[in-house]
Amino acid sequence: MSSINVRPYTLDDFEGLLDVQKEAFPPPFPEDLWWSRDQIKAHVTTFPEGALLAELDNVVVGSATSLLITYDGKPHTWEEVADDGYIQKSHNPAGDSLYGIDLCVRPSYRGKGIAGALYEARKETVRKLGLKRFMAGCRIPNYHEYAKHLDVDSYVKAVEKGEIKDLVLTFMLKQGLRPLQVMSNYLEDEESLDYAVLVEWRNDQL
Ligand SMILES: CC(C)(COP(=O)(O)OP(=O)(O)OC[C@H]1O[C@@H](n2cnc3c(N)ncnc32)[C@H](O)[C@@H]1OP(=O)(O)O)[C@@H](O)C(=O)NCCC(=O)NCCS
Repeated sequence: MSSINVRPYTLDDFEGLLDVQKEAFPPPFPEDLWWSRDQIKAHVTTFPEGALLAELDNVVVGSATSLLITYDGKPHTWEEVADDGYIQKSHNPAGDSLYGIDLCVRPSYRGKGIAGALYEARKETVRKLGLKRFMAGCRIPNYHEYAKHLDVDSYVKAVEKGEIKDLVLTFMLKQGLRPLQVMSNYLEDEESLDYAVLVEWRNDQL
């Protein structure tokens, strides 16, 4: 069995990272939200500890990008928290929370623990930097299948109870992340009806 290797990414990894994005975020997800070379360059220069990829047999199969913020409880959009994917204006080196702005795994490599390994690395970063928490705006890509009959809060509760499986939120809950609030107009995301659930994992060493 090959083992998953999680390591910081550099600009040299751009092509592999873009391939993962293309496969993980196919239409109707907007192409202009896939990473550009300039954005990857900005991640590795602004906060290299937050720029992680996972590889299997030297193939890039997943990535997870984060920055530091100070959480103030207010709802926000992806564009605001991620500085439209560049993190330069939104990254606060003195922040108390690691905030994930990207998590993706190639479809043919899913269910093998790759995102789980990236999450372990994120938790380790929270512990190492002595931060309060990890948080992220979690997509709910299966919500569009239920939206006719369920409002978004009821959908999130049903996923929490295990009555509905959501590709991303079910995964996040398994990682020990807990919903804090539902945010509307978070990201142009047809499948999630532009909603995201702000989820949190508290540093278990504090
Ligand atoms: C969410 C995502 C990153 C999970 O990646 P992953 O590498 O499949 O995650 P893991 O293998 O660590 O865990 C996936 C869970 O899904 C389930 N699963 C099993 N086989 C699966 C498959 N073929 N495809 C998807 N999920 C599967 C398992 O229940 C597994 O849980 P387990 O730990 O109990 O086994 C991935 O589905 C993805 O890239 N989605 C699209 C991009 C996206 O929306 N990202 C989130 C942005 S907020």
